[in-house]
Amino acid sequence: MPEYTLKIRRFDPESGRAAYWESFQVELPPERSVLDGVLQARDTQDGSLSIRCSCQAAICGSCAVRINGRTGLACNTKIGEAFERAKSFGHDEIVVEPMGNMPVIKDLIVDMDAVHWKKVKRVVPWLLPAGDPPEREYVVPPESMIDVTQTMACIHCGACVGACLSLEVDPEFIGPAALAKAYRFVGDPRDAATEDRLRDLAEDPHGLYDCTHCFACVEVCPKGVAPMDQIMRLRRRATADYGIKDRNNGYGHEKAFVDLIERYGTLHEAQLLPRSYGQGSLIRSQIDPSSLKQLASSLPTVINGLKSGKVSPKAALWHHKLPDQKHVRRIYKEIHSKDERLELNLYIVGESGGETEGAMAEGSQES
Ligand code: SF4
Ligand code: SF4
Ligand code: FES
Repeated sequence: MPEYTLKIRRFDPESGRAAYWESFQVELPPERSVLDGVLQARDTQDGSLSIRCSCQAAICGSCAVRINGRTGLACNTKIGEAFERAKSFGHDEIVVEPMGNMPVIKDLIVDMDAVHWKKVKRVVPWLLPAGDPPEREYVVPPESMIDVTQTMACIHCGACVGACLSLEVDPEFIGPAALAKAYRFVGDPRDAATEDRLRDLAEDPHGLYDCTHCFACVEVCPKGVAPMDQIMRLRRRATADYGIKDRNNGYGHEKAFVDLIERYGTLHEAQLLPRSYGQGSLIRSQIDPSSLKQLASSLPTVINGLKSGKVSPKAALWHHKLPDQKHVRRIYKEIHSKDERLELNLYIVGESGGETEGAMAEGSQES
């Protein structure tokens, strides 16, 4: 039977001792899980070793930890594969530690209430329908429910929260799991508060526009929820469908980005900042008092960029167009010619991408 070494981060607040590392040898077939290894270490070597778990089948969402630096479910990670990954980093021990971005209660157990559940509550995670409820059930078109099924697959393990890079910088960020949950209601035709929800999340300085597209949440989610994709959908609903011009300049930044690519084919970085502050318009950024104020507050960043060579004065003044820019414009024209925005929901396509399922998935976004 293969033997593995688990290097586990230990912490017991009642001991008064700082966090420390402890190694345990366990014997298990490689297809068993890291959770099995931790439980074996607890049962045979130290009964105080703590981890939260229940189903052991990737359903209850209890056992998310960080394994070799990557957040995931301990019960869903084969110990043999974890060892191979550790070896690829030049280590012979599997490192297991609590998730990031949440306070540690004991050993591998983090305080989900303090961060994850608090953020989920922040997005009002229940339906807000208008008027009296129907006598019988609400009738909803199946394609609308397919649209939100991806977010409904969330098991609230918190892996995306633990891995989110924006949360590391801004602990107040609403975060991937809660924003994915928000889309579950924004995309539900029974909900009557869509615009209010979107405005609330767009105006929150720690809301929709705090995500930096790092993809960490997409990579670690064990259920394919792809929280970043749900955040992008919320943004498209807020900007394209409701035209919400938020005080965080999220609308302006997105518009500036899209317009600059249409014009130049590549990003004219020197114009991105002023245009973002001017709700997409360069002229507005130079006459609007609040835009001018924001631009002035960004001057130290600009000066640092110039000093470090990231921004050159030449590049700031002149940006060349792509030689075959007309092809980029052609793509824009094609997209603008569509009456409605079509989003592909690739979550439910069936094993073989069957015709019926594929067709339902394709029409899954209503606008
Ligand atoms: S993509 Fe956005 S929400 Fe997801 S982990 Fe990165 S910053 Fe966080
Ligand atoms: S979105 Fe995925 S990673 Fe995040 S809490 Fe839900 S299931 Fe876990
Ligand atoms: S123990 Fe339930 S998800 Fe791992």
